[in-house]
Amino acid sequence: MPLFPRRLAAVASAALLSAGLFTGVYTPRAADAIVGGTAAAPPPWLAAIGTPAFVVRPSGQFCGGALVTADKVVTAAHCVDFLRAAPTLLSATFGRADLSKKDGETVQVRSIWVQPGFRETEFKGETVEHHDVAVLTLSRPVINRLPLLIDRSGTHLPGAPTQILGWGTTSELDLFNTRLRQANISLVTDARCADAYGSAFDRRDMICAGSTHGDTCQFDSGGPLVVNGRLTGLTSWAYGCARAGYPGVYTRLAPFNLPL
Ligand code: ARG
Repeated sequence: MPLFPRRLAAVASAALLSAGLFTGVYTPRAADAIVGGTAAAPPPWLAAIGTPAFVVRPSGQFCGGALVTADKVVTAAHCVDFLRAAPTLLSATFGRADLSKKDGETVQVRSIWVQPGFRETEFKGETVEHHDVAVLTLSRPVINRLPLLIDRSGTHLPGAPTQILGWGTTSELDLFNTRLRQANISLVTDARCADAYGSAFDRRDMICAGSTHGDTCQFDSGGPLVVNGRLTGLTSWAYGCARAGYPGVYTRLAPFNLPL
């Protein structure tokens, strides 16, 4: 019966951009979404992923994504896998800070590629996502929006500037946020993440970040984890939101060879 999977999640600035504007490197203005964040203007590459059929959220939004070429958006596999047979029901909206408005630009999705090996397991009743990445091909190229570069290094110094963005809920109890928010957070070491999640955490395809002070939450899934101005991760899963000892888990993008 559920038209949408139980955990349609989300994935998910003071968007401005200095040199970044010309290089595809995202440099937010100092700011502090999302749990523990602040309101943000959408950076040009940020997509709200949704479908008009999802009437419980304005704009039909249920996930985030990032434009990485003129006609490709990277998002979480768990956001779109269920629509593989009906990709044109999906769309990507750019430039809309508040989902209850009609501004910005909405582009229909033509096809959905889901990473082979995407699968779900469980940790304390939460869905654990593996190989949680998908590529959406848009029905037309988006012009005048600079894509975000994907991080290929896979290595990050502790303390590297890290941001999360999304239209998701601002706490586990909030059901209704519709405004884009952003937070500056810190990466969490693989060792600490393995302490939290045991074998549910796989360092080969996951990277952890955030704390009680800043985390993604429901409807932020698929949205960006930006490290050093590059798309490094995608909001994927966690135990609750912003709970002590349970950081957010993001799809680690560097290992994947995406069809871009
Ligand atoms: N899969 C989650 C969702 O349903 C993404 C949220 C991630 N949670 C977190 N605390 N970082 O939207």
